[in-house]
Amino acid sequence: MPIPVPVCHFPSRIQTLLIFVLSEFLLTDLGLLHARDKIPLHRQVYEVLRRAILDGRLTAGDRLPSSRQLMRDLKLSRNTVVSALTQLTIEGYLITQVGSGTFVSDRLAASGVLRPGTLSMQTARLSQRGDVLAKTYCASQLEIQPFTPGIADFSAFPVSQWLRLQNKHWRMNYPDMLDYSYSGGYAPLRRAVAQYLRVSRSVQVDAEQVIITSGTQQSMELCAQLLADHGDTVWLEDPAYWGAVKAFLACGLRLHAVPVDRQGIAPRPSDDAMAPRLIYVTPSHQYPTGAVMTLERRQQLLAIARRHGCWVLEDDYDTEFRFDAAPLSSLSGLDQDARVLYMGTFSKVLYPGLKLGYLVVPVGLVDTFKQAHYDLNRPGQMQLQAALAEFIEMGYFANALRRARASYGLRRRSLLEALKPCLDAGAWISGAEQGLHLCLRLHRDADDVGMANRIGELGMTARPLSAYCIERQDLRGLVIGYGYAALEEIRRHGPELAQAIVREIANLASARHGTLALQDSPDSITMPVPPYPTPEPPMAAT
Ligand SMILES: Cc1ncc(COP(=O)(O)O)c(C=O)c1O
Repeated sequence: MPIPVPVCHFPSRIQTLLIFVLSEFLLTDLGLLHARDKIPLHRQVYEVLRRAILDGRLTAGDRLPSSRQLMRDLKLSRNTVVSALTQLTIEGYLITQVGSGTFVSDRLAASGVLRPGTLSMQTARLSQRGDVLAKTYCASQLEIQPFTPGIADFSAFPVSQWLRLQNKHWRMNYPDMLDYSYSGGYAPLRRAVAQYLRVSRSVQVDAEQVIITSGTQQSMELCAQLLADHGDTVWLEDPAYWGAVKAFLACGLRLHAVPVDRQGIAPRPSDDAMAPRLIYVTPSHQYPTGAVMTLERRQQLLAIARRHGCWVLEDDYDTEFRFDAAPLSSLSGLDQDARVLYMGTFSKVLYPGLKLGYLVVPVGLVDTFKQAHYDLNRPGQMQLQAALAEFIEMGYFANALRRARASYGLRRRSLLEALKPCLDAGAWISGAEQGLHLCLRLHRDADDVGMANRIGELGMTARPLSAYCIERQDLRGLVIGYGYAALEEIRRHGPELAQAIVREIANLASARHGTLALQDSPDSITMPVPPYPTPEPPMAAT
């Protein structure tokens, strides 16, 4: 029976590249093997190729370089190379088709001998930290579905205006714009951000204090790397934004969960035993419950930070979208002793793949942060930053924001309307005044993970509130976004989502023989917070 020639998956230029790369890693691996032991050379070539096939670096259908080319690249005799290839062919790793070349066999994959990555996963042990990171809750790869929280409608992004500005800055062709950026980012962009924050968020900031990062994730990492040591404690809201959990774990910090109630993070006197080096908060719209931190709580938090001599990281990720409620000022605006580092992002108003955000640091930290950002992250993308600066200066950003706000406002209203039957069934809503998501709160006995899975089977995404909890066992709910799906989609899928939730609530009630008090009061989720001593007056700025 003729051996079927495997389909070559690569166009010819990429195939050429693969051949080059193959020779490169063969050279590297052979260099190592050769130095280490006295195995005959043909056996070493055989072993390197066999391992590359088994661990998936070479996959079914990949074409190998010709024996002549291998001979030349590896500086080996033709006999050595041919002997290795023949042995691999006999054992079924390779197949040779006269006139076409030598290919990795697809029979091994079909027989199940090869499972991509299995061998390397077995042999490569993760670090303890890697293991924890792999197991903690993370974003689904299925980000784009109706009701996925935290995702904006990037289809509304004004692509043509943006392209025009980007092309303009590429045409200017300043060589230094192609370099890494030492300065903390493109100066006009830093000025524009500072101006925006002073006016809209009451952040007392000079452009010098603004550092352009690749988004909040990088801002958090930079703060953790520079302000805390391995093993230091970071206080986080419980439930918390999973991105913050990951960033701090990755920096080797110890997480201390502080519960959130309707007034935001609610530290208890017992928390003082875990002295924080950092406190991470989302005061304007707690993620994911949506609680807005009250003025009293803000002052309390700043007093705690002062007492512990620690830093506060304020993640102001979605304040641009505030509906039916008075505008809020930032926590940073209340800070009188330069302890708050403020983080913002362009992910929500523009689009997440833009990967641009900003970090505002106290004056005394500016030089250290710029230097460390330069050394650790090698920041660049100056053309992109220049385009964004002009996008803001020309008023396009303000227009995009105005349009987005109006559009999300309608979507939010439509979702709230659709969810009314859930409220009649005993659920309640938190955090709908702002942002791109709301939280539908459920009785503490509800299986919100199961509910979210079943909603997923209907082609919609709602995230289980319990999955965001670090220690708490008492919170159940669904985090539901209205940013991504268009108004028509919310109108179409909203009632379907509500029906699914009502059905789940009814099932839960009947499983409890109707005894479940589904009219659980929102107050029942409020943690009893023992009073803290009255905040001390702020110290003079340092
Ligand atoms: C609480 C919170 N902070 C920050 C971000 C965005 O961060 P980035 O700038 O890294 O995209 C998100 C995104 O969903 C978020 O939910």
